[in-house]
Amino acid sequence: MIERCQEDTRPRFGPRARTAVGLAAAALLAATSAAFLPGTASAGTTLGASAAEKGRYFGTAVAASRLSDSTYSTILNREFNMVTPENEMKIDATEPQQGRFSYGAADQIVNHARSRGMSVRGHTLAWHSQQPPWMESMSGSALRSAMLNHVTQVATHFRGQVVAWDVVNEAFADGSSGARRDSNLQRTGNDWIEAAFRAARAADPGAKLCYNDYNTDNWTHAKTQGVYNMVRDFKSRGVPIDCVGFQSHFNNDSPYVSNYRTTLSSFAALGVDVQVTELDIQGAPANTYRSVVEDCLAVARCNGVTVWGIRDSDSWRASQTPLLFNSSGQKKAAYDAVLAALNNGTAPTDPPTTTPPTTPPSGSCTATLQDGTRWGDRFNSSVTVSGASNWTVVVAVTPPQKVSSTWSGSPSWDTSGNVMTMRSNGSGNVFGFTTMANGNWNRPVVQSCTAS
Ligand code: G3I
Repeated sequence: MIERCQEDTRPRFGPRARTAVGLAAAALLAATSAAFLPGTASAGTTLGASAAEKGRYFGTAVAASRLSDSTYSTILNREFNMVTPENEMKIDATEPQQGRFSYGAADQIVNHARSRGMSVRGHTLAWHSQQPPWMESMSGSALRSAMLNHVTQVATHFRGQVVAWDVVNEAFADGSSGARRDSNLQRTGNDWIEAAFRAARAADPGAKLCYNDYNTDNWTHAKTQGVYNMVRDFKSRGVPIDCVGFQSHFNNDSPYVSNYRTTLSSFAALGVDVQVTELDIQGAPANTYRSVVEDCLAVARCNGVTVWGIRDSDSWRASQTPLLFNSSGQKKAAYDAVLAALNNGTAPTDPPTTTPPTTPPSGSCTATLQDGTRWGDRFNSSVTVSGASNWTVVVAVTPPQKVSSTWSGSPSWDTSGNVMTMRSNGSGNVFGFTTMANGNWNRPVVQSCTAS
């Protein structure tokens, strides 16, 4: 039986992304590579480029309806290298009637982002809120099946196009209980969250799978501890969770606290990546924005920061003027503070220092993909296998990419030509291959590693 291996698939964020992004920045200097990250100026002068210099991303929530606003799209294309659809991937948007899926607005954002070299965070597959009426009125096993079908269908539609999914959003209660939030999904059984993660992994094995929540910033809060205990439990039982998103909607009632860095580092120590996913701060104080960015940069597994909108007028809390650009699209003091914090920060060590507290199941091995040399039309990758000397590793590239050559292993191919099965041939535990990009620079994905 092929076991899913503990592959390293941090494709466009995480410490290994630094190599790819650094190469991208260098490639920008060459006229021939202008299409790789168009809209990203030289490092140090925009949020995305400065974050990339530090092996991170800087993202924003995007509303499809605003893409035709030239002030909005000009800032988006110039400053950001990660995009989260603000509402367009939610359940009511993607499955407005049961079994009838609607991806138009989400596809519009994904295409806008990816054609400009930005990555996409999917938000969100399973949530108690913004359910369409048909789902709101469901319960029990019918709801469980409908939820899992939704996760499978949507993750499959966007397979290979999103780097991370908020698989489950906001499943814990506020207050002092540290318990799950009551909802129709929770009432289907306490295992609904892990079931959603397993379905998402099966549908898109290359995407990072995240749990996302708000009011989980303060390390001492019961809600933070409740989520922490769930993630620790998931890691110990092999539930496929890769990351935790901290929404970080800060305001006078729910302020930034100095133990935020402790929260990020404590979760990271469980063996998950962490991200700041929906940042906005009432009044946009420059010092607080600076602190949030510094806290992320201080944690090796904090991959990046996403703000929840571009201009104050785009915010769900517009009256609090919580964002980095004013309603005219001018940079605010908070913008300068964030840019300075990014430029003063450090890149994480590579490889990361934290190790997931799980061991590969017997019969499996670990295969880690690393970026190699990159040219104008192709790039090299190498895969290091540990845990077995006789191994079989399955690697997929994204069409229209094609693997043009391999070394230090015996390859075979599926009928599509995009999935390569590489077997050890006595040359050691590192094999390599060259991928013709054909216009697509997605990182190849290790799908499995099997010991024999
Ligand atoms: O598009 C319709 C429009 O046609 C209609 O006329 C109008 C009338 O109310 O509603 C419009 O839809 C609104 C939608 O935003 C787009 O503007 C919805 O009513 C409104 O509920 C929706 O709010 C979104 C909210 O999630 C819903 O829960 C916000 O834009 C969005 O920023 C917010 O995002 C959430 C994250 O997903 C999860 N974390 C918290 C965050 C803030 O609440």
